[in-house]
Amino acid sequence: MTEEHTAERWLGRSVKRKEDDRFLQGRGNYVDDINLPGMLYMSVLRSPVAHARINSIDTSAAEALPGVVAVVTGELLAQHNLAWMPTLSGDTQAVLATDKVRMQGQEVACVVAEDPYVAHDALELIEVDYDPLPVVITPQQSLEPGAPVIRDDKEDKQDNRVYHWEAGDKEATDRAFEQADRVVSFDTFYPRCHPAPMETCGCVADVNPVTGKITIYMTSQAPHAHRTVFALVTGLPEHQIQIISPDLGGGFGNKVPVYPGYVVATAASLLIGRPVKWIEDRTGNLISTGFARDFYMNGELALNNDGKMLGLRVKMLSDQGYAYADAQPSKLRAGLFHIVTGSYDIPAAHVVTDGAYTNKAPGGVAYRCSFRVTEASFFIERLVQTAAYELGVDPVELRRKNFIQPEQFPYTSATGFVYDSGDYERALDKALEMLGYEDLKAEQAKARDEGKLLGIGVATFTEVVGAGPSKDYDILGLKMFDSAELRVHPTGKAILKIGVQTQGQGHETTFAQIVANELGIPPSDILVQHGDTDNTPYGLGTYASRSTPTAGAATAMVSRKLRDKARELAAHLLEVAPEDLEWAGDRFQVRGAPDRQTTIQEAAFAAYTNHPQGMEAGLEGVTYYDPPNMTYPFGAYAVAVEVDRGTGQWKVKRMVAVDDCGVRINPMIVEGQIMGGLTEGFAMAAMELITFDELGNCIGSNFSDYLIPTSWETPKFELGETTTPSPHHPIGAKGVGESATVGSPAAFVNAVVDALAHAGVRELQMPIGPDKVWQALVEAGLAE
Ligand code: CDP
Repeated sequence: MTEEHTAERWLGRSVKRKEDDRFLQGRGNYVDDINLPGMLYMSVLRSPVAHARINSIDTSAAEALPGVVAVVTGELLAQHNLAWMPTLSGDTQAVLATDKVRMQGQEVACVVAEDPYVAHDALELIEVDYDPLPVVITPQQSLEPGAPVIRDDKEDKQDNRVYHWEAGDKEATDRAFEQADRVVSFDTFYPRCHPAPMETCGCVADVNPVTGKITIYMTSQAPHAHRTVFALVTGLPEHQIQIISPDLGGGFGNKVPVYPGYVVATAASLLIGRPVKWIEDRTGNLISTGFARDFYMNGELALNNDGKMLGLRVKMLSDQGYAYADAQPSKLRAGLFHIVTGSYDIPAAHVVTDGAYTNKAPGGVAYRCSFRVTEASFFIERLVQTAAYELGVDPVELRRKNFIQPEQFPYTSATGFVYDSGDYERALDKALEMLGYEDLKAEQAKARDEGKLLGIGVATFTEVVGAGPSKDYDILGLKMFDSAELRVHPTGKAILKIGVQTQGQGHETTFAQIVANELGIPPSDILVQHGDTDNTPYGLGTYASRSTPTAGAATAMVSRKLRDKARELAAHLLEVAPEDLEWAGDRFQVRGAPDRQTTIQEAAFAAYTNHPQGMEAGLEGVTYYDPPNMTYPFGAYAVAVEVDRGTGQWKVKRMVAVDDCGVRINPMIVEGQIMGGLTEGFAMAAMELITFDELGNCIGSNFSDYLIPTSWETPKFELGETTTPSPHHPIGAKGVGESATVGSPAAFVNAVVDALAHAGVRELQMPIGPDKVWQALVEAGLAE
């Protein structure tokens, strides 16, 4: 008798991260680990002022310093038509300033030297004569009539508006507001913060003077897209440009834009004929690279007296800094802010968004989120809580009453998204059960009687990730699909090459698990390669939780292609028709005679040694996957906080996070992603802030001023899950990398506000330090 064969399951399994062997043993290979023979070092001179005309730059003393090889200025770059470059959203940004500086920290000149310390010392010898100009710090000032025009380098630019965009149906929304019993409004600001990855940006540019080929080792989340930008900027053919993005010490969106340092180092290597390394220092990273958020949002929710939501109006004004530089899917200029109706069945919505230039570093980078989802999610979750207070109902009940119901999926939102799947009440129920919501409410009432403040905050968010269907999403015209190329070697070991680029998310493990799930080859036999434009298929990179929805899907699809060929090979070996075979997870069995079988490894061997006449040899393929839709992960987060009436200090008592990202490939990695995201969400709610004084000086240029949480400040998180598969993803997975950063800030803020809400407090602006809480306690008469 034949024993039934059961292949190992590879989805839903917490396989240990393959990449950790090298990371834990200090064997990672980061850009700063790259050292090439004859390499030079580059340092960047940055503007000390936020807005000024440049009268002159004198580089003679710097050039005379022994060890200095060259000083590069904007004027030199202009001779090669490289002083300005395109941004990923179709704007332009200075590589090195020529006419003016438009932000503090702007790149003005670069020194290339034999030694990094000499390069740095030489910066002090460069004399720049600045003529200060009036500084514009907020988007409100920027849009006032008569404000100085920041981008006067553009011939026809008369004001500081970057974009104006509207979404939804204005008339239908107006009608909903006319019919409503109640209108609740809410006004908030999501402050500027910074992704602050552990590794700053940098590159080693190596132009081969003989072949002309440029190899750039670069901290890039999107190597292929960056190669195309380099080709467009330099006019060099793409086959002469190789971008290698080795191990990255975090990205979080910070490594999506193209930065001047990359371009100058490459130009310098081209002109000098030697490799040039540029590694940004921490302050350079914090003051000049892609910032996030800086959104002013206000809006109104129309409701009936029974709490049914009828309509939503939202206005958003964003501070883009002096250049609109973040990647932006061009069909949705307000990005995915359209998700602002959240998890609720709101029949009508109208969204108006504006962006404005200011004298700040280019802002708007999607820091661990999908193009403005974080701000939209924060806004609706804060507004719903405010509405609950105004209506005198439990915020949880108001949410329940308005959730999109499971049977409504696929659900078309008022702003035009088609949500793929969801079960919001199930996730909420689970979170409340884990938190012990009813008991906690009783405890809250008791605490108030005893003069203590306890707050409970909930957020039930919906995200939209996985750009995208290429018909709707592109960056600089590059359609947003992604790719996977799989080759199974004769011995049944495999190499998978993908178009996305890990920055610590564990792709080398999870993508191998996807192949293992489809073909039965164990993950330990699969090498996952990424981050090298010469050796991986074209892809749009990793950000916005898009890797699993796009390249993950491509990986499943290419594996299935190979399985189809393996079936034919197995049929040939077993001398049966392919239709007579059934797949058993890692082998083909003859239907009705399962002991006659061919393993995937045997089929792979046959592909090179015994393939049928007329069949191409080899077992390999490539898939470019254009997803039919985005994926819509969601979750319910619940937080309990205690607020000290004597100091305004608040402390997280409990934090429960229930996430639904469809099928989980590797639960341990998913939980790691969620914990990291919750930490960053907590940080935004509690402490992270980049701000500017009236002269445009950046306050937050180092880790003493820009506070990121250590394990000491980070609360304990309790995780739960529900699983609602994506109906269109080949393995039912949705993205998850950013869910927690998106969903959690509102939960933390809702909790702190809730502690004070009975005294009429409705808003506390992030980051909520004890000073702000203390002020609110005093004003509400709650201070002790
Ligand atoms: O694009 P990015 O990698 O940042 O985000 P993601 O696609 O959400 O994936 C983050 C990590 O979690 C990857 O290693 C994924 O393969 C893994 N993941 C998973 O195991 N199961 C899911 N349903 C989603 C992601």
